[in-house]
Amino acid sequence: MIAESTGLARKDLLGLEELTAEEIRLILRTAREFREVLDRPIKKVPALRGLTVANLFFENSTRTKMSFELAQKRLSTDSIGFAVSTSSVKKGESLRDTAQNIEAMRVDMIVMRHSESGAPRRLAEMVDAHVVNAGDGCHEHPTQGLLDLYTMQERFDDLRDRRVVIIGDIAHSRVARSNIHGLLKLGAKVGVCGPPTLLPMGLPELGVDVYPHVEDALAEADIINVLRIQLERMGVPLFPSTREYASLFGITPERLENAGHEILVLHPGPINRNVELDSRVADAPGSVILSQVTNGVAVRMAVTYLLAKTRLEAGHGAL
Ligand code: CP
Repeated sequence: MIAESTGLARKDLLGLEELTAEEIRLILRTAREFREVLDRPIKKVPALRGLTVANLFFENSTRTKMSFELAQKRLSTDSIGFAVSTSSVKKGESLRDTAQNIEAMRVDMIVMRHSESGAPRRLAEMVDAHVVNAGDGCHEHPTQGLLDLYTMQERFDDLRDRRVVIIGDIAHSRVARSNIHGLLKLGAKVGVCGPPTLLPMGLPELGVDVYPHVEDALAEADIINVLRIQLERMGVPLFPSTREYASLFGITPERLENAGHEILVLHPGPINRNVELDSRVADAPGSVILSQVTNGVAVRMAVTYLLAKTRLEAGHGAL
């Protein structure tokens, strides 16, 4: 069923910054094959039967956690969950001890979400198991970046020279960082737009254009990725009010209409409705926001499969 003969030649997926364009294309090609499986009456293949995966979510998640769990079920892995609230982390156990105990149970792969940037990298250095970053602090969210790329490619096929603008809270966004690295590697023209207090330093050095005004961004964009305002990550408010944010940067049908051309609108979720994104846009016929979620399962199947394939070929796996 899966045509790709090689896996990813790396142990872990920690971010899109470290992937090559060819590795990203391999994941997206493989995801396309798994996406087809999700439309079958029986949405399951035996590809990774016997592989054991632990899902360690130290931070809240709806989409990513369920999506990884479903992706694993669709590949016939044995998966175990880890709820921080009922674990020995609550008794003060360190990440190293937690990791070593999980590995002692012969787990092959660990999927980790953590509020600290760099936590999955530290974990990856401690264990032989594959580590997949499911979002770390303000650093990266590579599978979200990949599913965004996948959804953009469904509409535009080739992203080279397409103008993609990421709008909103760029400074606190791991999704923005993964999008920027992935899009630049696939040859897209990348811009960001948001209040100056929500834009990090160093964007022009990366080759990213900065749009102070959302109207200018929309005038040039083929695709926009609208990000959530992450109030929970701001120590102090970085803009006067959500009402003012919505009036200056919120994506409304009127603003899209005024741009004068069709724009593909993505949002990684969860949405602050009528703040960064008007509900009439989120729920419009043809909105791809829920397609992103479906595509996320296929992308996570591809990442899991391609990492495990290398391990199995090296003779460490359970297949
Ligand atoms: N997009 C995303 O990461 O959503 P969750 O926080 O619900 O996983």
